[in-house]
Amino acid sequence: MISSELFKQVMRHWASTVTIVTTRADDTIYGLTATAFAPLNAEPPEVLVCINKRTRTHPLIEQGSVFCVNFLVPELKPLSERFAGRRPDEERFANVRFRSEATGAPVLSDALAYLDCRVVRALDAGEHTIFIGRVEAAEVLRPEHAPLLYFHGHYHVLGGRLE
Ligand SMILES: Cc1cc2nc3c(=O)[nH]c(=O)nc-3n(C[C@H](O)[C@H](O)[C@H](O)COP(=O)(O)O)c2cc1C
Repeated sequence: MISSELFKQVMRHWASTVTIVTTRADDTIYGLTATAFAPLNAEPPEVLVCINKRTRTHPLIEQGSVFCVNFLVPELKPLSERFAGRRPDEERFANVRFRSEATGAPVLSDALAYLDCRVVRALDAGEHTIFIGRVEAAEVLRPEHAPLLYFHGHYHVLGGRLE
């Protein structure tokens, strides 16, 4: 087995789109910044997110059985930091425009795109739970924008298309 240091070093070379995974349990809305997201199936449309069991978000997804994956644009970097717990004095949804679609999980109005999901399976995976969600609503909200990326421990923007 390799060391977790080597694993982290290699993973720093994996670029990913930054998302905010939101959820709703009864009247409580919440969410966190997440990059551990993957599309899973196209028929029926299903995705997965990996959520650390120690987060506040985790029990709320378990309770509400819904989540919405919001793809961020570069101007939402401050929101990404807030939802990653780096601005603990700020309420998560303060001055954030959002709405409900199919599941009631918050859809961020300024997101690039969203996938609004109902949990169909939860797999125990060590310090994380893999939540598999069936996509019940989705839309590209800002088709002219590129995503906010996370790479090598820093935020990035796309460098441009290769021909
Ligand atoms: C770029 C980035 C990606 C992250 N990806 C994940 C992730 O995929 N899953 C996860 O559980 N936490 C992830 N985190 C950490 C959570 O955002 C962080 O622990 C957050 O404070 C949890 O909030 P909560 O405990 O209030 O729910 C990520 C953080 C950053 C900055």
